[in-house]
Amino acid sequence: MTDPHRDRHRAHFDPRQLAAELRDGGEVADHAFDRLYPAPLRTMSRVHWTPLAVARRAVELLAPLAGERMLDVGAGVGKVCLVGALRSPAHWTGLELRPALIRAAEQAARALGVAERTSFFATDMATFDWTGYDGVYLYNPFGEFLMPAAATSLREVGPLAGEYSHAARVAQHRRLVAATEEKAWSLRPGARVVTFHGFGGVWPPCLDLVHREKISTDVLEVWVRGDAPHRPPPDPGVDPLVEGLRGRVR
Ligand SMILES: C[S@@+](CC[C@H](N)C(=O)[O-])C[C@H]1O[C@@H](n2cnc3c(N)ncnc32)[C@H](O)[C@@H]1O
Repeated sequence: MTDPHRDRHRAHFDPRQLAAELRDGGEVADHAFDRLYPAPLRTMSRVHWTPLAVARRAVELLAPLAGERMLDVGAGVGKVCLVGALRSPAHWTGLELRPALIRAAEQAARALGVAERTSFFATDMATFDWTGYDGVYLYNPFGEFLMPAAATSLREVGPLAGEYSHAARVAQHRRLVAATEEKAWSLRPGARVVTFHGFGGVWPPCLDLVHREKISTDVLEVWVRGDAPHRPPPDPGVDPLVEGLRGRVR
């Protein structure tokens, strides 16, 4: 049986009005934004999706210009891409492992009227080429692999549904962090990278930290790709394991 109160309440939700408020810089509460999504995905919002105030600031710090392409690595339901498309003239791409989240992001983009300036791909970020992107956003995308599988609500929409072993999850985390560090080299000089709660690794020396500010539950960091052309060849006199560990404690 349908709940008439719920349906009446739903009837008042106008995504175009929400889009106008976000575009104009109005204060929109996260729970109001979350009405774009199916109920089970709304419950994940507080922990897994970037809060709106942080998304707005991250978009500003990425400094997106017309004709530029921005990338959210581990985009979830696409919140940062959607805010970015409403508040900047750039094109926003979201990469996400979980197809159910991609479907929710695409539906929200259509509802907000920004489908033309957003693209969402259901893919493992490690297989995606970052070349040609002018800005990259990451909100601790692989953190769930270090949590007990039962402790993350994202598990319900895969890929931890099978709750594979702790060792396998740690190995997966290491693989994804290494792939992310490697991809920083493929960005063009001047490209910006913004992180919220980091990404679990240490950026290679081709990125320079230019700004750090406290916000919400953590900090936003802004990194800029310098002009080092490519990763220096490994020094045969240096043990890569020891060098990697040094990078982590610096
Ligand atoms: C903390 S959430 C952040 C979501 C979104 N960026 C936001 O800020 O609202 C991290 C997301 O990364 C996704 N993810 C984890 N590993 C991934 C991978 N290898 N490739 C693509 N997405 C991944 C997860 O499914 C999850 O939706």
